[in-house]
This record gives sequence, C-alpha cells and structure tokens, in this order.
Amino acid sequence: MSSGFPLSLTTDPVADSERAAILADPGFGRYFTDHMATAVWTRDSGWQDRGIRPLEPFTLHPSAAVLHYAQEIFEGLKAYRHADGSVWLFRPEANARRFARSARRMTLPELPEDDFLTSVEELVRADEAWVPASDGEESLYIRPFMFASEAFLGVRSAERVTYSVIASPAGPYFASGVTGVALWVTSQYSRSAEGGTGAAKCGGNYAASLAAQNEAREHGCDQVMYLDSSGKSTLEESGTMNLCLVTSDGQLVTPALGRILEGVTRDTVLALAEDVGLTPVERTITLDELRAGASDGTITEVFAAGTAAVITPIVRFRGEGYDFAVGNGGPGKQTLTLRELVLNIQYGRVEDKHGWMRRV
Ligand code: COI
Repeated sequence: MSSGFPLSLTTDPVADSERAAILADPGFGRYFTDHMATAVWTRDSGWQDRGIRPLEPFTLHPSAAVLHYAQEIFEGLKAYRHADGSVWLFRPEANARRFARSARRMTLPELPEDDFLTSVEELVRADEAWVPASDGEESLYIRPFMFASEAFLGVRSAERVTYSVIASPAGPYFASGVTGVALWVTSQYSRSAEGGTGAAKCGGNYAASLAAQNEAREHGCDQVMYLDSSGKSTLEESGTMNLCLVTSDGQLVTPALGRILEGVTRDTVLALAEDVGLTPVERTITLDELRAGASDGTITEVFAAGTAAVITPIVRFRGEGYDFAVGNGGPGKQTLTLRELVLNIQYGRVEDKHGWMRRV
C-alpha cells in the first residue's frame, strides 16, 4: 500500500482570472497547474519522500544520468469533468501497468501501482480547479514520469531515481482535429526494431522521432507513419499514435503488438469495436495492402488512436513517389462514431459498461 502523497499547498497559486483565461484556450502542453507530485527512489532505501508540492524546477547535478543516457520513461492520461462537476480519470490502472512495463525495459525501479494511482489522484484533487469545464473537448492532461537523477557518468542502471507527475490543461492535440490529418510514410527512418524499446514509453523513442516528424512537415504532412525496420513493408505506428483501419467487410484492423506502443486508446477501440458493428483484428498490415485497399475501396477509413490525439481521422498518405486519399478524403463515419463513443464514456454522457472511469 502507498503511504500516501501528503500535500504542501503553494502560497503562490496562479490567479483565478489568469487560470480562467488559460482554460478558455489551453492549447496542448503550454500551461501547468500549481502543484506537482514527487517521490525519490534509491537502491538503499527504496521509494521515499512522496508528496504533492508546489510546482517548481528540479535541481539536477550536470552529471545526472538522464541528461547523458536518457534513462527515462513517461505516461499520458487525462482527467475529465462531467456535467455534474465531478472529475474522473480514464483507465489510470492501464497507465500504471504500462509504466511498470516501461520501467522494467529501461531498468528503472517499478513504482507500485497504488503509488501511481495515489499520486495522480492527489495531484488532480489539489489542482481540481484546473480541470476544464465539460462543455468542450478540453481535459486535464496528466504526465507521470521517472528519470535517472543519480549524479554518475558510468553507464549502468541508476541508483537514484526521481518520479514526478505534472498536469496541463489541454485542448485538441491537432489544430486540424476531426477534419483529418495527413501522414508522411517515411522510408528513411524507423521507430523501433526487434529487441529495441518500441513498446516502452521512453523519451528516447520520441527524441529519435523528431527527424522523421520534421521530414513529414517538409512534405506538408502533420505526422509521420513508420514502417517496420527490417523490410520496410508493414505498417507500425504513427509518431504519437496507434493506427487503425476500417475495411468494407466490417473489420477494425490494427497492427499487432510487439514493437509498437501498447496504447490505452488502441485497446479501448478494440474493446468497443463490436459495439459499433466492427470485428476487431490485430495483425500485420502491409503498405501495399493499404495502398491497394484505399484505391479499390476495401479500406474505407483510417484513424489514429492516442491519449493526446483521442481518435483522429487519417485522410491522406504521402510517401516517396505516391500520394493517396482514404475514402472520400474526409473523416469516415465509423471513425466519428467511435470517437463520439469514446468521448461520451470519458465525459460521462453514456453508461460506463466496462468500468473504465475512476472518480477522483
Ligand atoms: C499521449 O497520447 O499521451 C502521448 O504520449 C502523446 C504525447 C507524446 C504528446
């Protein structure tokens, strides 16, 4: 059991009027709430110094291992305000479990699930006023993370590690939102390889993705689409999201797990597929299959799933020497239905049949 995250309240909170102006147009990842959760682990003493305290910069020795060897992991989840004013988390236990899996891959200490949930809940309670009202698609994005804070330049698993949670009010991740985004299929870069860190949510995966992301922008696309690293013929995932296809015979197909991130939203749409009349299928999908299917109409819709991006229609693919639309080039019907269903569950507008919501 967690021994709790005691609260030290800030004496200098953001003024009500300033917070209201931020919540009116939060964007993504630009503003932060008044508090943060922290805990420290050492090889000798285990987890200690748990607490919720005023948001402030870390003091790190310049030799802190994370700054050199990127021993770091993170999570992303959201808190939603329901119409009655109550605040809820969506499947935080799934994030806690993935955080532990990422920790094992990066040889960081596992944070007990109870500590993960308590730190997130206590932070959201302390900063409840930062959870946007329920009338739009705004939410409070929560970012738990853990990093090697030991001052040591040798290459080995750190013996001092810092855990923290910060929170940031969030609107849509993509400005083009539900109108759909275009993906650049990179033939130059890979996101992960067999035996690599693709399934872990570690900062290094995202650092390595920036060159491909810039390449996508240069080609007029919003995000990158990765292929497998060996033959470069099968679809893996997009920069910050998992990929899903809808077929004309009623399947919802998504790349099988292995090297890709085990997305909570990916798992959610697989669980909801049958509710909207689709059969969920996890398998290998080739780029040739996508191109042929988009051309002959057997692939009717493509969308991406992620915590930040929710469910975002993918309406175009570009790569070296090709450029094609999916469906009619706009958001697909099933995509919008699934998106609505997920949001309705998250905002408490329909029954939570799966027991995914957790009240703060
Ligand atoms: C999330 O959806 O939580 C992500 O991890 C995307 C983030 C890197 C912006």
